[in-house]
Amino acid sequence: MNDIKVERLFINYKTLEAFKQFKEYGHQELSMLEDLESNIVENNSESPFYGAFYGDRLIARMSLYKVDAKYDSYFEPPQNYLELWKLEVLPDYQKRGYGKALVEFAKGFDLPIKTNPRVKSDRFWEKMGFQKAHYEMERDLGENPLIWLPKGVQEKELSH
Ligand code: COA
Repeated sequence: MNDIKVERLFINYKTLEAFKQFKEYGHQELSMLEDLESNIVENNSESPFYGAFYGDRLIARMSLYKVDAKYDSYFEPPQNYLELWKLEVLPDYQKRGYGKALVEFAKGFDLPIKTNPRVKSDRFWEKMGFQKAHYEMERDLGENPLIWLPKGVQEKELSH
C-alpha cells in the first residue's frame, strides 16, 4: 500500500456530498456547504481537507490547520504547527494503510503536529509516533492532546 495518493480537497458539491459518509460530519461541513451555496466561497476553492480516493470514491480524509507560533503552547521554542483533525477512514477501508498515508503526508510539512484523537485509536497514534502532550491548555480540558515532533523540536517543559 505504498501507492496511496493523498490530495488536497477542493470545496465543491461532489466533495461535500462525499463528506456525508463520514461520522464526523458537522458544523464545519455544513458551513462549507452554506458558503458554497451562497457564493461566499467559490466553487473548487481550496479546503483545509486532504483525502485519499479508491477509484473515484473518497474513502479517507483529514483536516489540517496551521496554527501560528504566537499561539503555540506545546513546543520549545514556540513553533508554527499543524492541528490535525477529522482523520477518518471509512469502515470498509480501515487497516489498509490509508490512515498512515494521511498522517505521513501531514508529517511531510515538517512542522510539529497536534491532534485530539478519538478514544480507541491510541494504538494507531502510538504507531504513528505521537505522544501525549503534557501541557494542557484550558480548551483541551476533557480532551487528550497528542503531539508529534519533527527533528530538532522539543516539547515545552512544564513549569509548576
Ligand atoms: N488498533 C491498533 N492498531 C491499529 C488500529 C487500531 N484501532 N488502527 C490501525 N492500527 C495500526 C495498523 O495495524 C497499522 O500497523 P502496522 O503499520 O504495524 O501494520 C498502523 O496502525 C497503520 O494502520 P492504517 O491501516 O493506516 O490504519 P487505518 O487506515 O485504519 O486508519 C484510523 C486508522 C483510526 C484513522 C481509522 O481506522 C479510523 O478512521 N477509524 C474510525 C474509528 C476509530 O477511531 N476507530 C478506532 C478503532 S475502534
